Amino acid sequence: MTDLLGIRRPIIQGGLAYLARAELAAAVSNAGGLGQITATTLPDAAALAREIAAVRQLTREPFGVNFALGHRPIDDLLHTALDLKVPVISVTGGNPAPYVDRILASGARLMVLVAGVRAAKKAEALGASVIIAVGVEGGGHLGRDDVGTLVLTRRLVDAVEVPVVASGGIGDGRQLLAALGLGAAGVEMGTRFVATRECAAHPRYKEALIRHDIHETTIIERSLGRPGRTLPSPHVAKIQALESSGANLEELLPLIQGNVNYRAAVEGALEEGFVWAGQVTGLIHDIPTVQELLDRLESEAIHSMNTLVTLFRAHGEVTEQ
Ligand SMILES: Cc1cc2nc3c(=O)[nH]c(=O)nc-3n(C[C@H](O)[C@H](O)[C@H](O)COP(=O)(O)O)c2cc1C
Repeated sequence: MTDLLGIRRPIIQGGLAYLARAELAAAVSNAGGLGQITATTLPDAAALAREIAAVRQLTREPFGVNFALGHRPIDDLLHTALDLKVPVISVTGGNPAPYVDRILASGARLMVLVAGVRAAKKAEALGASVIIAVGVEGGGHLGRDDVGTLVLTRRLVDAVEVPVVASGGIGDGRQLLAALGLGAAGVEMGTRFVATRECAAHPRYKEALIRHDIHETTIIERSLGRPGRTLPSPHVAKIQALESSGANLEELLPLIQGNVNYRAAVEGALEEGFVWAGQVTGLIHDIPTVQELLDRLESEAIHSMNTLVTLFRAHGEVTEQ
């Protein structure tokens, strides 16, 4: 997977609505992972072109552009990304089929986010280079089947031939090692990258990720068939009450639309809006630079692996080969 994508560390920064901007993407790629810009929350194709140029000012390493389907037409945005020869495209939240030929013809690698076996097999058949398995612990939009990362990743590793990346609930090196142990080729992280210095998230959002524990996230938009995991807030409670009372999309839209998320995530109005976050919020205790975070993940994974080797060796189950 690292060879396919041209990166040094098996760590991908997931798409982050309004937050996955050039500074974060470049920092992740410079630290050896794959950084990504989220295209679908930028105002237009010209803004995406500026963002891609900004990443290229900051890094010479490969990076990706992420498309969340189902929110708006993406043709203009995709055309711009492919025209500018972006090396990696990731797609989530819908059927990638209408876009695949164009993406592959441009020479870009395609990563498809899935939450189940059928979608994984379909993405592989379409030509995806990497499948990202998104478990129910994750932040932001999830699959509908509520399967956890530990089980989903293991299942998908056997279901497809292409590399599988584990996503959802991952934030440290022990979890990276666990994912590799499952047969994953690497990890994708979203929430953990929000709490880094280079992320455009408001400081109040980053501090809230430190404050909240693993059991405190909650899910909105389940009644719309597109569940997404957030931090709790009075506004989130209002959305959930409306959903319970049978409100339709039209009634919910003013409370769930992008600008409400933007005001909370970027401007810090947490109580009057919603911010996406996964259960890994309970494992976040600081706001490091991206470089510090990735260095730490690697050293934690190696330390953990050495501990395991010592343990197995003590039981005579590891030989020098
Ligand atoms: C703040 C936030 C915004 C997100 N926005 C997007 C998005 O625009 N596109 C996308 O593909 N995934 C999005 N996701 C999902 C992440 O890319 C990733 O799959 C998920 O965060 C993994 O789970 P984790 O948060 O436990 O690491 C978002 C997640 C978060 C936390």
